Amino acid sequence: MNQQYIDTLNELLKGEHMAMQVYEKTKGIQEDNQVKEMLNKFAQDHQRHIDLLSQRVKELGGTPQDKTGFPGIMVDVTTTINAIQGPKHLLKQLYDGEDKGIHSYEDRIDELDPVSQYVVKGIMAEDHEHLKYFKARMEEEKQERE
Ligand SMILES: [Fe+2]
Repeated sequence: MNQQYIDTLNELLKGEHMAMQVYEKTKGIQEDNQVKEMLNKFAQDHQRHIDLLSQRVKELGGTPQDKTGFPGIMVDVTTTINAIQGPKHLLKQLYDGEDKGIHSYEDRIDELDPVSQYVVKGIMAEDHEHLKYFKARMEEEKQERE
């Protein structure tokens, strides 16, 4: 039954919209150019995830979720505050966000049809890359402070 797949994909789409908005917002207020560039790339990656999931929802005959709603706004405010406090707070929060994102994919992937699972696996691989970048960057931050 496609409706279950559509609903699950739309749930995951909410998270992608949230991630994209967070990166779009924080890249603009980040003063460290390296971090800014990284956030810009991640915003683009998540826009691509949105496109992929939306396309799959349409293929299944559904209407893709197009915004995050209230929880998205709440995340946005916290992230903005952390971005102003400096890269260390921000990187940690973004890392946690990515980690949560990957877990929500892991939790839901069994509910999906094989084609959607394939799409989701590609997205998860990219998010694992994001985590690696954050980890490396957080290590650098630590060393700079020592
Ligand atoms: Fe990501």
